[in-house]
Amino acid sequence: MSNKKMLLKKDIKEKRELVNIEIDRYLPRKDEYPKQIHKAIRHTLFAGGKRLRPYLLINTYLLFKNDLDKVLKLAGALEMLHTYTLIHDDLPEIDNDDYRRGKKACHIVFGSDIALLAGDSLLVYAFAMIADSEIEEKLKLKVIKELSQEMGNNGLIAGQMVDIMSEGKKPSPKTLEYIHYNKTARLINIAIRFGCYFGKAEKADLDRMKKFGEKIGLAFQIVDDILDVEGNEQTLGKTIGKDKKVQKMTFPAVYGLEKSKQMATKMIEDAKKLLKPYGEKAEILLMLCDFILTRKF
Ligand code: IPE
Ligand code: IPE
Ligand code: MG
Ligand code: MG
Ligand code: MG
Repeated sequence: MSNKKMLLKKDIKEKRELVNIEIDRYLPRKDEYPKQIHKAIRHTLFAGGKRLRPYLLINTYLLFKNDLDKVLKLAGALEMLHTYTLIHDDLPEIDNDDYRRGKKACHIVFGSDIALLAGDSLLVYAFAMIADSEIEEKLKLKVIKELSQEMGNNGLIAGQMVDIMSEGKKPSPKTLEYIHYNKTARLINIAIRFGCYFGKAEKADLDRMKKFGEKIGLAFQIVDDILDVEGNEQTLGKTIGKDKKVQKMTFPAVYGLEKSKQMATKMIEDAKKLLKPYGEKAEILLMLCDFILTRKF
């Protein structure tokens, strides 16, 4: 493993721990009444997971400021929101997936009823955690408002909705981009945008980092689609071949595997160029770009 890769791995691990501690502190213990719901929440939340969204928020913030503990609660809240979407995404009524993060999906262990409630809980806890954080009031409100819009019926839910509606439908680049932007890129963009808000970034930086977010957000889901075709189940921690089976509208389905890879590569190249003005400060984000493209999990 190259030195750079080792550095990235170590950095991810350290920050993941900090975020995990924050989440763990905030949630009820798993033996608190009614036990099953708290167990179910923790089952998927702590099954693993890359913590990409918190990591992006933290590292964007660190372009502008140094005290990362200021954003840990917010980073944890984004991970709760992401995990809620995964628990619901795996339900038999949506993607019907049995594995998540290398473990049995929430509904396989606890049943769909409890998995549904576990997802609901995480959605609510995320907002509660932000409300409880020591963010200045004006920024807190801005963050809550933007997050509810991004996660709502004009955002992530719309993406999930069109994703399931488009199964078996004639592939269309426009619909594909709509799905991927909404279901995945929005939350990734939010992580980067919030990092800028908290870092009190100048407008030029915010605009630049928004463009960065759009590139990596889409590239991330293209690679997710590619991994569903040629990934390794064990490494990936989830079932592969599912998208083709249910005829999901994915990048490989619309453009083919090779073109999809080229598109993702180009987006990552463009994203990396946007980081140039930050010099060494952006080293971790640069490595993360490469990871998004070459990841196997
Ligand atoms: C999986 O997200 C769902 C998508 C939006 C593609 P991640 O690949 O970030 O999943 P975890 O958090 O690492 O499990
Ligand atoms: C999931 O997309 C996006 C959200 C959960 C919002 P996918 O359905 O492709 O994610 P995986 O492949 O199940 O992780
Ligand atoms: Mg899905
Ligand atoms: Mg899925
Ligand atoms: Mg997928």
